Amino acid sequence: MTYHANEKGYYGQFGGAFIPEMLYPNTEELRQNYIRIMEEPSFIKEFKALLKDYVGRPTPLYFANRLSDKYKTKIYLKREDLCHTGAHKVNNTIGQILMAKRLGKTRIIAETGAGQHGVATATVCALMGIECVVYMGEIDIARQAPNVARMKMLGAEVRSALSGSRTLKDATNEAIRDWINNPVNTHYIIGSVVGPHPYPDMVARFQSVISEEIQSQLMEKEGTPNPDYVVACVGGGSNAAGAYYHYLDNNDVGIIAVEAAGKGVHSGESAATSALGKVGIIHGSKTLLMQTQDGQITEPYSISAGLDYPGVGPMHAHLYTSGRGEFISVTDDEAMEAGLVVSQLEGIIPAIETSHAFAIFNHRKFKKDDIVVINLSGRGDKDLQTYIDYFKL
Ligand SMILES: Cc1ncc(COP(=O)(O)O)c(C=O)c1O
Repeated sequence: MTYHANEKGYYGQFGGAFIPEMLYPNTEELRQNYIRIMEEPSFIKEFKALLKDYVGRPTPLYFANRLSDKYKTKIYLKREDLCHTGAHKVNNTIGQILMAKRLGKTRIIAETGAGQHGVATATVCALMGIECVVYMGEIDIARQAPNVARMKMLGAEVRSALSGSRTLKDATNEAIRDWINNPVNTHYIIGSVVGPHPYPDMVARFQSVISEEIQSQLMEKEGTPNPDYVVACVGGGSNAAGAYYHYLDNNDVGIIAVEAAGKGVHSGESAATSALGKVGIIHGSKTLLMQTQDGQITEPYSISAGLDYPGVGPMHAHLYTSGRGEFISVTDDEAMEAGLVVSQLEGIIPAIETSHAFAIFNHRKFKKDDIVVINLSGRGDKDLQTYIDYFKL
């Protein structure tokens, strides 16, 4: 039994490539080449060098003393917030821009919710001198203004998605439409472990550097590569996939995923996909999806733009239905309070997405000697205005 993707991109019953015929050549080109390219020594060398000297890897694994005292367990933070551009997203965009170059692509498109993936994409396009267009929902453009400014400063064009809930799902729809119209010269850098095969597997492999580092860093600090639990927030699921990757098939390590319950799982304003989702197809992948009785996608809601998505990657749908992963839903209010606690106990202001992961301690008790690694996926600079408005600071 493995929790990794099979050759066709399936995790159990989830995954695959459900795409319009016009996209077939694009995804097929990628599918036929991605593993071969990722295994080329020159690719590995360039990828590792950029992760080290440009992104600033390895990111620290930090023992959070005061948080550990408060919650009476051993808490380590994997500091993806210290990556260049402020979140884990750049691990994937570095990998994909190198992939795009090897496939001879001259134009990049991306979707973004919180703007972190958009910034990470605009960054690597500037680095490589490649044209970049980022699609972003109109609502997200308003609530993540600092990241919109950063993308523009980096030379990217930000296009507003005006349909549906005007958030991440709608930005993704626009990006897919663009790709259909520009199939030859354009590579679509998807920002999470979602989309048609091979994206979920490819993005998980690029993000797997997170758990690779956790293993050696924990070995050094605790004499074991295995924590008792790895905890991460899940939007599409890429930071979680990276943090779990090398532990997926190791049952000694518990996997905990935290989703956004918005104003409450059953409030009608939520993005708690595992709790509310049914099997369906979104953005080319068979997965769990929030939908109406007749299969129309339900508009999601979360205070955090990066978790405001009605689906989840196929790896996570499989982790949930197989019982390998423990899934917990956290409301806006719980996440905001948890973000404040981490800020004031550890001097680290987390992205609101990540604050959801920290709310785990209000839902679940751990033993005193448990080693709990929280993947600190991003920093909260982009969210300051939301925190200020919420806490009336
Ligand atoms: C800091 C941060 N964490 C988490 C996420 C959620 O994405 P994923 O589930 O792919 O890690 C985002 C998305 O924008 C983000 O910016």
